Amino acid sequence: MSPSRREPPAPIPAPRLPGAVVARADLHDLLDELSSDMLAHAINCAQEFGSFHIALSGGSTPIPFYERLMLDPLCRRLPWSMTHLWIVDERRVPFDDERSNFASIRETIVEHSGIPESHVHPIRAVEDDADLAYERELVELLGARGPGRDRLDFVLLGMGADCHTASLFPGSPALKETRRLVRINDGPSVTPPDRVTMTYPLLNAARLVAALVTGIGKREALGRVSDAYARAGEDRSRRLAEAESAPIVGVQPYAGDLRWYLDAGAAGA
Ligand code: 6PG
Repeated sequence: MSPSRREPPAPIPAPRLPGAVVARADLHDLLDELSSDMLAHAINCAQEFGSFHIALSGGSTPIPFYERLMLDPLCRRLPWSMTHLWIVDERRVPFDDERSNFASIRETIVEHSGIPESHVHPIRAVEDDADLAYERELVELLGARGPGRDRLDFVLLGMGADCHTASLFPGSPALKETRRLVRINDGPSVTPPDRVTMTYPLLNAARLVAALVTGIGKREALGRVSDAYARAGEDRSRRLAEAESAPIVGVQPYAGDLRWYLDAGAAGA
């Protein structure tokens, strides 16, 4: 190794979670890992399937990651022309509302990546049939890839301090969905405004699910998630029971990988 080459940053202790856990003391190192994992996965999918389907979350946590994707010279190798960009969940507000997830993803990624416009798939969340329309679009485009390939390749999730992920909130109706891929989620258990969200059946069918959880504000929630996984073990129905109060626990890919990306704040190291 050349003397100028940096040692890879050491992993730090983290709570026990299913799947792989990538925990780094420094946020930049963590985002390095996430972007190089995503890059490798994107290149593989583009080569093997001729396309790469990614679904991104909103919230504040992934913004530095999205900025890195645009700025890091290594990320220039992302095959944007073969990428389809989907949105994990959306608030039922117009695109010009500052709470719109798409507005923020458009500003950080779409406008700078060179991704073809026809490959960008916002959720038209204010429409009455927003969930059905998005599901149709997903089924049509993923279905066109053929059997075994008709799933999302990469899903980036975040987690709230109440352990929600996507717009799957504790005790909310969409947690019970076993068939539909996208659902409107509303009612008293949903933090306003009403949402449209990908459901467990779609998220769990993905090839790779990455959960990016950072900051001390998420530490306690991550501890609860770890305890819930420990109580439920591998059993899918017990995990779904735990997911009623800690929705991220319902994320258990059927035949894909789950990877957690944690910084020192969240990991409690
Ligand atoms: C959203 C999300 C949601 C988010 C968490 C964490 O639209 O808000 O998709 O699930 O990932 O609420 O949000 P922060 O990153 O802002 O903490």
